[in-house]
Amino acid sequence: MPAPLNRALEAVLDGADADALRRATTRLIDVYRSGAPPAEQVLRDRVAATAYAAYRMPATHAAIARVLRYALEVDPALAPRSLVDVGGGTGAAAWAAVEEFDVLESVEIVDGSADALAVGAAVGRHGPPALAGARWTRRDLGDGAALPPADLATVAYLLGELEPALQERVVDAAAAAADVVAVVEPGTPRGFAAVLAARDRLLAAGWHVLAPCPHEQACPLAAAGDWCHLAVRLDRTALHRRLKGAALGHEDEKVSYVVARRSPVPPSVRPSGRVLRHPRTRKGMVALELCRADGSASEEVVSKRQGPRYRAARHAGWGDQWPEGGTDPAD
Ligand SMILES: C[S@@+](CC[C@H](N)C(=O)[O-])C[C@H]1O[C@@H](n2cnc3c(N)ncnc32)[C@H](O)[C@@H]1O
Repeated sequence: MPAPLNRALEAVLDGADADALRRATTRLIDVYRSGAPPAEQVLRDRVAATAYAAYRMPATHAAIARVLRYALEVDPALAPRSLVDVGGGTGAAAWAAVEEFDVLESVEIVDGSADALAVGAAVGRHGPPALAGARWTRRDLGDGAALPPADLATVAYLLGELEPALQERVVDAAAAAADVVAVVEPGTPRGFAAVLAARDRLLAAGWHVLAPCPHEQACPLAAAGDWCHLAVRLDRTALHRRLKGAALGHEDEKVSYVVARRSPVPPSVRPSGRVLRHPRTRKGMVALELCRADGSASEEVVSKRQGPRYRAARHAGWGDQWPEGGTDPAD
């Protein structure tokens, strides 16, 4: 976890009732593991919202930051000045966006849980100025009202909590409000299904995919019964380990996402490939499972004889862009 969010969480959590937080964390883990849309508000009181911030926000923040970085890699000119964080809860996506886009000056977090917003505002006060001055707005997304207009809308770890019809309405509302929409969900078959439905909906509305897909055709992984995701590794703080009763000093947050925008993505900008799995390294070769610009997915084996391409392949990571044959990545 980057130091600023870490420090902000520590400042807000200092003196919190550790036993109550541990119990609330266990309950949240059970709710999220069940995979089903929750029947009632999950962050229903201050302790649940605080537990979410302590045990879950570092991971959702790390995953969203990685997603935004991938979008920036595709289009380094991406420079949103305003953000609406839809179902933003304690503000993980707002933190990630403010850190990734230093021109961001106006931030609004919209969520149905007053407790999540209150905890998020307390944590955010320790953040960069755009976050410290953010608007935290309580609203049920089922109310049908339009979202506030913004350059960027983040819809992170939200769709899985909503019924399918509301998922569609929220994606439509985000697309009506913003020029760029980032949808992020857990990297599970269910999370991916929500992301894929959002991708389909945005493409059908004439939007364009910035990341991760190197094409705008049907997803080849979905066609094969697979799901597109990647893993983001983050360090756990001591508090995080205590709350989760976890021994490991790190965790791998699996994430599925799509970042789409209203304006076209020129072919010169779009990556020609995307790494779909951890690259496999064998003696003198690296095997990369790739999503390709022609809408297919298949393996490329890069051998040591390919010099710079081999060295680049050794550094390629799951989720990274990868130029298809012919173009050598920068050595
Ligand atoms: C899993 S949390 C995600 C929070 C944050 N986006 C993140 O990435 O950490 C889901 C959030 O969606 C909010 N939410 C769920 N259903 C909602 C609804 N119908 N209207 C408004 N907010 C809702 C919850 O209050 C909660 O804060």
